[in-house]
Amino acid sequence: MLTDHHSHILPGMDDGSKSVEMSLEMIKMLRAQGVERIAATSHFYAHKEQGDIKNYLQKRQYAYEQLMDASPAIDNIILGAEVAIERGISELDGIEKLVFAGTDYILLEFPYTSFADWMIEEIENIAYNFKLTPIIAHLHRYLDDYSKSQIQAVLSLGAVIQFNNEVFETWGGKRFFKSVLDAGHSFVFGSDTHNTSTRKPNFDLLIKKAKPEWIRRSDRFLDMPKVHI
Ligand SMILES: [Fe+2]
Repeated sequence: MLTDHHSHILPGMDDGSKSVEMSLEMIKMLRAQGVERIAATSHFYAHKEQGDIKNYLQKRQYAYEQLMDASPAIDNIILGAEVAIERGISELDGIEKLVFAGTDYILLEFPYTSFADWMIEEIENIAYNFKLTPIIAHLHRYLDDYSKSQIQAVLSLGAVIQFNNEVFETWGGKRFFKSVLDAGHSFVFGSDTHNTSTRKPNFDLLIKKAKPEWIRRSDRFLDMPKVHI
């Protein structure tokens, strides 16, 4: 089942979809590209939410219900979150509730600041304290800002690596994907779509550029027995 593991399709949750109408259009575009299952991973920034995970989950549920009320036939939406790594995030009350619903996978995003060792520690704490497997969002985006050894430190976590579909658009992105593939890491693909224009659904791109076996591997991921890191 072609699966989008990273999207901002829920209306009014973050800098993604602005309205129910836009969400429906994004979902329609994804479906037209063959996507059958979509993880809805609205941003979670602990500092913006003032650490209130319960409130975030209520907002998410409301956004989801608005979507379902507008189009009850929509199915295979997995509620999740894209959790920004902040200092102390692993100790936030209820952090384990931000998993992809029904799984032990949690999508974590590195901040766009310089790399620091505490980020790795936060990820390890989340993994070990709650027995969760981290999925690292679009690691390829940090290649210009992180050193080789810092990228290696992230890969050494043994987490799942999420690639945005446009990774195949650049030579460096392709090379990095191949290195992750060759090193035997688990990986998944996602659109990281935010709207219908500048950051639109782009599985057409993935299907054109990625080998079918890579896409199949990504698609099987959520259905496989879980691997603890
Ligand atoms: Fe995202």
